[in-house]
Amino acid sequence: MLDPVPEELVGTSDVVHVGLIIMVVRNEDPTPVLINLLTLLKPGGYLQWDESDMNSLTVTPADGIAPHPRFDEYRSYWKPWLLARGLTWEWATKMDKMFIEHGLELCFHQRLPIQDEIKKPWTDLQVTGAGEQIKNIVIPACKEGEEPTPEKWLQLLDGLVAESQQNQAHTMDMLVTVGRKAI
Ligand SMILES: C[S@@+](CC[C@H](N)C(=O)[O-])C[C@H]1O[C@@H](n2cnc3c(N)ncnc32)[C@H](O)[C@@H]1O
Repeated sequence: MLDPVPEELVGTSDVVHVGLIIMVVRNEDPTPVLINLLTLLKPGGYLQWDESDMNSLTVTPADGIAPHPRFDEYRSYWKPWLLARGLTWEWATKMDKMFIEHGLELCFHQRLPIQDEIKKPWTDLQVTGAGEQIKNIVIPACKEGEEPTPEKWLQLLDGLVAESQQNQAHTMDMLVTVGRKAI
């Protein structure tokens, strides 16, 4: 996604769909990814880009009031971990402007909340994803003597999983943007 598009793929796609790539975009600048995606499109082709809005992340306990200290603790480590690596997410809320600036005709730009009927599987997906990231990305990159230690990360994960099973909903709005490349 960040490497140059192979010559044989330039201008070959009618539709390009991409989603959930905040781990790819660095330092609030999705432009290199956008340019590559546009390079794939034929003139008049469509780009659909979906992201979840990390700013809208909300934990809703079943009773509406129970505290969620394990989630709060996990987030107090996870957010700085992302930011320290240039992984940001404000850009995702401005995709409409970015599409227009790059010459796309804006066809669709909407914030879609997670519907009640999928809150449970969505929560399980979020927590499973957190586990994958901690085990496969965060811990292998931990340095000797650095905080949080791998043990601490696993403890944070255990707390997150246990708490999420107490009828909590972890939700984020989806941001969906569709644009059309000029003919
Ligand atoms: C969170 S998943 C989203 C998967 C899918 N787009 C969706 O919406 O369900 C992020 C995806 O980005 C891919 N990815 C990460 N870095 C990439 C890169 N530099 N170039 C291409 N794909 C990349 C990963 O392999 C993974 O499939």
